[in-house]
Amino acid sequence: MKKVSVLGYGTVGSGVVEILRENAELIEKRTGEKIQVKSVLDLRDFPGDPVQDIIVHDFEEIKNDSEVQIVVETMGGLHPAYEFVKASLESGKSVCTSNKALVAAYGPGLLKLAEEKNVNFLFEASVGGGIPIIRPLKVSLAPDEILEISGILNGTTNYILTEMTEKGSDFDSVLKDAQEKGYAEKDPTADVEGYDACRKIAILTSLAYGKQLDFEDIYTEGITKITDRDIQYAKKLGAKIKIFGSSKKVGDKVSAMVAPKLITSSHPLYSVDGVFNAILVKGNMVGDVMFYGQGAGKLATASAVVSDVIDEAKHFNINVKTLWDSEKLALMPTKEVSFRFFVRIHGKKEEAAAQAECAFGKVTPVDVGFEDEYGFVTEEMTESAFEKAAGEVDVINRIRFD
Ligand code: HSE
Repeated sequence: MKKVSVLGYGTVGSGVVEILRENAELIEKRTGEKIQVKSVLDLRDFPGDPVQDIIVHDFEEIKNDSEVQIVVETMGGLHPAYEFVKASLESGKSVCTSNKALVAAYGPGLLKLAEEKNVNFLFEASVGGGIPIIRPLKVSLAPDEILEISGILNGTTNYILTEMTEKGSDFDSVLKDAQEKGYAEKDPTADVEGYDACRKIAILTSLAYGKQLDFEDIYTEGITKITDRDIQYAKKLGAKIKIFGSSKKVGDKVSAMVAPKLITSSHPLYSVDGVFNAILVKGNMVGDVMFYGQGAGKLATASAVVSDVIDEAKHFNINVKTLWDSEKLALMPTKEVSFRFFVRIHGKKEEAAAQAECAFGKVTPVDVGFEDEYGFVTEEMTESAFEKAAGEVDVINRIRFD
């Protein structure tokens, strides 16, 4: 039997306990032994809850409990999650976590510590919630060089953009509605500004190339500037606007970015709508593979955590190597990356069209009937060439094509 402690009895932590209880028999068969939750760390008490008698308030009790072999960190935040995870690994316990902030910031150090202690540090739930993506990247795609990762990695923003597209509503009213329905946080900054997706693509890219990609180094643009007018232009272009976390191998460097992009119906992720997430990975041998599912939610995320618990129980006393060194990944400067851009500029049609051609060269107009602005698509150009040209006109907004 393996004994587990869960740090944090919130949405995901309680989901982990529920799955280990509900599917206990199946999990035992698949693991080859029982997995029992021995203790749950939380500041609160939970009278009447199945865990009421195993709640502890002091992490030291768990750290010093030699019977606990696996620690599940579902507290979130960096501190004290980092200190608790580090101390657990130092005490010879395997750890699994759903905490993307922790993994993005401290992944390589914690993996090294796990290796030294001959235990495991796993984090399947940190990206894509219930979607298996970390283990496939590490194991199933291990034979391949990864050429590209392109992901709709945030359910909140995908829901908002889907609603804007389907209902023609503006960003603020969709966000308010999403908050009322509980699909968006009270403080939606991390989602709508792309910070959540940024940490996720940092983790996936680091794993794909075995080196550290600091999330602070990734150019990140959220969806707050997308308006109902942009959506109308997108429809005219036969496209949808989706926010992607993406990275691509370019020679011996990697480009990475989080930004809203226009995709047409030929794109594999075109039909990924609502709160769903999906990730497209291109391997140099396997070709394109896609992963689709619920990127958040209690049981979906907890299911991914429990998959790590089972993996750790099956690899007791065996460190399963994860290649992710602290050495920095060589990142291509964003200004060198090329896209076709959809651009809206201020001005009346003829005059604005002439300005656009003068600044950008050949452009393709997109007309949805607005008198006070001019929309067009550029040829493929680098970010720096775009910035230079954009300085010569009065840009309202611009969105990259994927
Ligand atoms: N806020 C995240 C999302 C939850 O909307 O996808 C999972 O990280």
